[in-house]
Amino acid sequence: MGKALMIAEYGRLRVEPNPVVGAVVLDRRGEWTSWGFHPYWGGPHAEVEALRRAGARARGGTLIVTLEPCAHAEKKTPPCVPAVVASGVKRVVVGARDPNPATTGRAARALRAAGIEYRSGVLAERCRASIARYAEHVGRRRPWTIAKWATSLDGRIADADGASRWVSGKRAREIVRLIRSRCDAVIVGRGTVEADDPSLTTERGGPRATPPIRVVFDSRLRTPTSARLVATARETPTLFVAVRGAPAKRRRALESAGALVLDVRAGKDRRVDVVAAFRALHRLGVRRAMLEAGGTLQAACLRAGVVDQVTTFVAPVVLGGGGPTPFDGVGWPIADAPRLEHVRISAVGKDAMIEGYWPRGVGSA
Ligand SMILES: NC(=O)c1ccc[n+]([C@@H]2O[C@H](COP(=O)([O-])OP(=O)(O)OC[C@H]3O[C@@H](n4cnc5c(N)ncnc54)[C@H](OP(=O)(O)O)[C@@H]3O)[C@@H](O)[C@H]2O)c1
Repeated sequence: MGKALMIAEYGRLRVEPNPVVGAVVLDRRGEWTSWGFHPYWGGPHAEVEALRRAGARARGGTLIVTLEPCAHAEKKTPPCVPAVVASGVKRVVVGARDPNPATTGRAARALRAAGIEYRSGVLAERCRASIARYAEHVGRRRPWTIAKWATSLDGRIADADGASRWVSGKRAREIVRLIRSRCDAVIVGRGTVEADDPSLTTERGGPRATPPIRVVFDSRLRTPTSARLVATARETPTLFVAVRGAPAKRRRALESAGALVLDVRAGKDRRVDVVAAFRALHRLGVRRAMLEAGGTLQAACLRAGVVDQVTTFVAPVVLGGGGPTPFDGVGWPIADAPRLEHVRISAVGKDAMIEGYWPRGVGSA
């Protein structure tokens, strides 16, 4: 189980809102035979991967998995329990029970009914700790949200005159397109559309049959129909989130260009209420979202507590001159400043990529 827990970590920051899961298979003599982990959101499950690799060597053997195998079908991949039964293993050893009420306890019943010995609770505390953020997110009616931004060495997301379209290099942008293709939605604010006119494209050949929906927070629907996101709305779904009572004329203009419009209540600042908007996106089936806004919407989302994970790029360039920063107007004294958890730092091309979970308790939704 210790080995399975280590292997599970390879999926961290890639699988959320799913839990990280690791699995190993022992053959009938108890020899370590194969391993698997849940690699990314929408990707294969750990136990199915481990059993696939083991093939016939799993017969009469033991499957060890950090989390109870799933038995419910309301998700992207088929349930794992039938694959476990078909593999011919004699014993299943599980770390933590699944806190998701749709599946909890079902694997034990189904596997025992199939004549498989089932034991749960091995290294339970460590297994539960490995899925703590998942357990907290189950039942929350908003998407798991990854805030993404790129800065210069001096912390600017754009140059002072707003002419920069990209701060990071080519490799970083490829990674961003790949992450987008593993999300249900990519969110920007009206300011980013106005400044950069992005198309928010994804990596071709990604794991999804359909690209993520492109979402623009635009309280009064002021985005011009000439914007790329609107001009391509018939090919790639594009949704504008506005406040109730936004001008009907603007709504008609965007809708007749092929865009969708969703209205939610206004917040105190008379802009889109962030929490209401994220709940509405969840109702529309958005489970994992990438927030690629400028400093204004990014700050509003952090304050509203709807950010779970951060993916940033730091480019070896200095912009100076008072250019904008990722969170306009938000500040903390160093002792209370949010620090990412489960931090991972990697080099991508000439940029640094820094990722982690946004700490709990900063914001509250
Ligand atoms: N380097 C990077 O990673 C990166 C990424 C994105 C953007 N940028 C840069 O950021 C700059 C644009 O910054 P920005 O701050 O104007 O863009 P933004 O945060 O994407 O958009 C801000 C706009 O979103 C709308 N909005 C709707 N609901 C909101 C809410 N509840 N709270 C706050 N805003 C809400 C507001 O317009 P309404 O009031 O009309 O609704 C607001 O003006 C550009 O220079 C761009 O290049 C850089």
